[in-house]
Amino acid sequence: MSPSALANGTEAASGTPRLVIEFPPVTAADNLSEISAITELVNRVFIDAEAGIWNEGFVRTSDAEVADFIRKGQLALAYLASSPPASEDQGIQKGQLVGCVCVKRASDSMCTLGMLSLDKTHQGLGLGREIFKFVEEYCLSLGGTTLGLDILMPTSYDHPLKTRMHAWYLRLGFQQVRLGDFGDDYPALVPLLSGPVVYRVFEKKLK
Ligand SMILES: CC(C)(COP(=O)(O)OP(=O)(O)OC[C@H]1O[C@@H](n2cnc3c(N)ncnc32)[C@H](O)[C@@H]1OP(=O)(O)O)[C@@H](O)C(=O)NCCC(=O)NCCS
Repeated sequence: MSPSALANGTEAASGTPRLVIEFPPVTAADNLSEISAITELVNRVFIDAEAGIWNEGFVRTSDAEVADFIRKGQLALAYLASSPPASEDQGIQKGQLVGCVCVKRASDSMCTLGMLSLDKTHQGLGLGREIFKFVEEYCLSLGGTTLGLDILMPTSYDHPLKTRMHAWYLRLGFQQVRLGDFGDDYPALVPLLSGPVVYRVFEKKLK
C-alpha cells in the first residue's frame, strides 16, 4: 500500500474523525511555505517539550530535513478534520495543520516513529492517541509487526513532560527494550546537550 492510500481521518472514541492524517505527495517538498509551516510547528513544540535538555538556540528540525522526510514519504501530517458544507458530499475535509509524525521503515518487520508533534493548543485532547493509531495501522499495512520509538530524558532532574511521555508510552503498550547510546546514533547532537541524558529505546509488538 502506498503511503497516501492511508490518507484517511482516524476516529475518536465517538466514531467521529477529529484528525485527517496523511503522507503528503512528494511534490509538497517543493512547497516552501508549507515546509516552513511544518518546520516552525515542530520547532515551536519542541522548544517547550525539550526545554532544559538542549543548549540555548537548539532547534529540532530544519526546512531541509522536513523536505527530505516528505520526499522519502516518511512524514505524515495531521490536520484538524472539518466537516464539508451540508450540500456537498465530499467526506471529511482537511482543516488547520496541527501536528506531524515521522515514520521510517527500519526493516521488513519494523517501523520507527519520531518527531511526534502536536501544536500546544491541541495537546491533551486525545489527538496524540489518534496519531498513534494511524502510525500503527500504517506500520501493519507495510507488513510490519513491531513499532519502535525512543525518548531522551535528562538524568540530573525530573523533566515532567518527558516523565509523562514515558508513562504514556508504557500505557500505549510499549516496553523499554534497551538503553541506547545517544552519541552513537546522533554524534553531531551530543555537544548541544545541556547535561546528562538517558536514551530509552521502546518497542511495541503490533501482532
Ligand atoms: C506527544 C504529543 C503529540 C501527544 O499529544 P497529546 O495531545 O498530549 O496526546 P493526548 O491528548 O492523546 O495525551 C497523551 C496522554 O497524556 C495524558 N495527558 C494529557 N495531558 C496531560 C496532563 N496535563 N497531565 C498528565 N497527563 C496528561 C493523556 O491522558 C494521554 O494518556 P492516555 O492516552 O493514556 O489517556 C504532544 O504532547 C506533543 O506534541 N508533545 C511535545 C513533543 C514531544 O514530546 N514528542 C514526543 C517526543 S519523545
